[in-house]
Amino acid sequence: MPDTSRPEELVYDPTDPAVMADPFPVYARLREEDPVHWSPSLRSWIITRYTDVRDLLLSDTMSVNRLLQFYESLPPADAMLLRDIVHYLNLWLAFRDPPDHTRVRRIMRHAFTADAIATMRPQIHEISDLLLDRLAAAGTDDVDLIREYALQLPAFVIMDLLDVPRDMLDEFKEWSDDMAVFIGGARNSDDKYERAARGCRHMSDYFRKLIEERTANPKPGFLMDLINARDEGDKLSDDELVATCILVLFAGHETTTNLIGNATLLLLRHPEQLDRLRADPELVDPMIEEVLRFDGPTNALVRVVARDHDLHGRTLREGERVFVMVNSANRDPRMFDDADRFDITRDQNRHLTFGQGIHLCLGAKLAREEGRIAVRKLFERFPDLTLNPAEPPEWLDAMVPRGTRRLPVRLNG
Ligand code: HEM
Repeated sequence: MPDTSRPEELVYDPTDPAVMADPFPVYARLREEDPVHWSPSLRSWIITRYTDVRDLLLSDTMSVNRLLQFYESLPPADAMLLRDIVHYLNLWLAFRDPPDHTRVRRIMRHAFTADAIATMRPQIHEISDLLLDRLAAAGTDDVDLIREYALQLPAFVIMDLLDVPRDMLDEFKEWSDDMAVFIGGARNSDDKYERAARGCRHMSDYFRKLIEERTANPKPGFLMDLINARDEGDKLSDDELVATCILVLFAGHETTTNLIGNATLLLLRHPEQLDRLRADPELVDPMIEEVLRFDGPTNALVRVVARDHDLHGRTLREGERVFVMVNSANRDPRMFDDADRFDITRDQNRHLTFGQGIHLCLGAKLAREEGRIAVRKLFERFPDLTLNPAEPPEWLDAMVPRGTRRLPVRLNG
């Protein structure tokens, strides 16, 4: 049993709409009053200080492999339903510990080269122009920026990267949303296991056929590099290849949507910062870093305690779940001056939004490039863009990702 003898009155309820819209006041309290907080409703530890978050992400007392334990606790009917998804997710780099993780990451880095990412730049420009042209031609001023822009841009980029035709966007969006209800820890969804199983089945069938077809008819590109990737003669198995395609699609899609959405929202809510960006477009790099820090797409990362771990007088026991609150760490005043100020000129911005240690994001370069191009072009094309005063943004109901489900804007003020 976890030791829970700490401030009773401090309740962290991520399902409270006020907390969803602005979780930072409760994070500030947790950091000060109970930095190693046991949440009875989430049955998990909540870790909120920068150094603790960073150290836990670096610590080998924490495991990313939380699926097996979860799977073994399921009733047989659910276990049957989730067999495939758990099989593939167990092969994800993101859910494997060393030495398996070390092996797969070594192979994958042959495909995730700086060159492979740089070749995507012209496509990002082209996709951004295409979507903005469509918005301008749509003849309506009120739009949901997530649906019409922030979602499609990274989806097309990642589909191009993986050689999936762009006209499959709707199917892929549906499958990845179905899987996301499981992976992102979404709440308030009764049929989440059925949806996850269905999404995974469609996605894995699709990639298995695509990989077979590409192996028979080689064509240069990231997917081919992944199929051909070797490390000292070792390569990804067929199932690992399928799992990796799903991971890349998944990891590179919703996260970047949220980066673009959160950046747009923050700039519109801080017009003085938007003016600075307009006056000096070179600020686009630190602007993206500041968005990643101030309200970035990584609300939390999940770990399972592999070996008992003492922290601030409490013991995290083997098998317990830990939410490592990245967005709280990124606002820790012990680490950042004036941490609650959104400042696009901030330097020394050592946020933890792409993780830390052995699981550090492999797509960070691509994500940053997409964010920079997407946001710059959006404000160039629609200089009078405003938030729609009649419809507030709707935040995602999820613990791990952080972003808006809908971001209603007026294109021309
Ligand atoms: C703003 C966008 C993105 C954010 C905030 C983000 C964040 C992260 C974080 C926090 C992790 C570590 C997870 C953990 O420690 O549990 C991670 C891992 C990963 N990311 Fe990203 N990511 C983004 C975009 C991308 C893109 C575009 C791709 C692919 C093209 C990608 C591919 C990956 C992969 C493959 C991993 C697993 C690495 C490993 O486990 O060794 N990510 N990402």
